[in-house]
Amino acid sequence: MTSDEIRKRFLAFFEARNHTVIPSASLVPENDPSVLFTTAGMQPLVPYLLGQEHPAGKRLVNVQKCVRTQDIEEVGDATHDTFFEMLGNWSLGDYFKKDAITWSYEFLTSKDEGLGLDPNRLYVTVFEGDEDAPKDEESAEIWKSLGIPEERIYFLGKEDNWWSPGDNGPCGPDSEMFYDLRPEVGPITNKEEFKKADDQSRVVEVWNDVFMEYEKKDGKVTGKLTQQNVDTGAGLERLAMVMQDKDNIFDTDLFAGIMKEVEGLASDTKKQRIIADHVRTAVLLISDGVVPSNTEQGYILRRLLRRAIFNTDNKEIPEESLAAIVGAIVFKYEAVYENMQNTSQFIQVIQKEQEAFKKTL
Ligand code: SER
Repeated sequence: MTSDEIRKRFLAFFEARNHTVIPSASLVPENDPSVLFTTAGMQPLVPYLLGQEHPAGKRLVNVQKCVRTQDIEEVGDATHDTFFEMLGNWSLGDYFKKDAITWSYEFLTSKDEGLGLDPNRLYVTVFEGDEDAPKDEESAEIWKSLGIPEERIYFLGKEDNWWSPGDNGPCGPDSEMFYDLRPEVGPITNKEEFKKADDQSRVVEVWNDVFMEYEKKDGKVTGKLTQQNVDTGAGLERLAMVMQDKDNIFDTDLFAGIMKEVEGLASDTKKQRIIADHVRTAVLLISDGVVPSNTEQGYILRRLLRRAIFNTDNKEIPEESLAAIVGAIVFKYEAVYENMQNTSQFIQVIQKEQEAFKKTL
């Protein structure tokens, strides 16, 4: 199943359940100086999660462009990237745990409407409880009622099963879904085995359902919101990896065309992946109006481009390779996101930065 088909199926699944499709917001957050980039689908929705009425209603769904750079050093392994697409559905004070979990399960496992994944390869985690919120027995019971046996449900603490966008804002316990990439090894039957399987990338997290009914202020959970929200997020790159039976995101259809154009620039796979990832993120950022500079978003863009160039064997991306890489990126996203048609402008911005970097070197 191609990434286009996954996006389409996701939106159609939730539209059929009365969700309104909203467009992806820009990678550069509007009216939110607390973050440089949109890092999750919920970010542009914060005012509505806090109670403001959304013009499109209480049930929303979209595919959101996201950039996260905190794991930039990990890029090059099987699953890390700096730009990614997040499939998300939201309940703004409407449905809560039962519908959210049931629909996540149905989308993942339904052959007709969803991805048709094998339910026997699904593992889930839920919040174990602490002074801020009780143990999430309710979510565990819902998972059991859907057929996930107790030995594949694990209670974990805040580090794993609590989500908030930062020190302030809506937050809450979450339930994460993992898919077993190597079922032939035999079933995982307890928390310790599961954690080991996660560390070894045998299981991959494919979706996160956050039950946003709490609020955080200055890093502390201060109490409940006036409404119970649901915020979900599924990484398209990882879903594509699972659906296309690949063991890394760079072999999926989202990256394959880009990787092909990068191959000749670096002898080592990790470096090729870094170049592919960073140029991809750079193009998406430029499409949202970012230009290389020494501050804020422009600084991150500069850093990404310089790291990409630095990882080539010759410390240079020749212009014809650059044009081919940018072309492969535009090809993947021009029908999905706005402002992706300006191929020559993308090349120009990157080329100018490359010249500046050469001087610095
Ligand atoms: N906000 C949550 C996350 O980023 C779910 O979308 O994982």
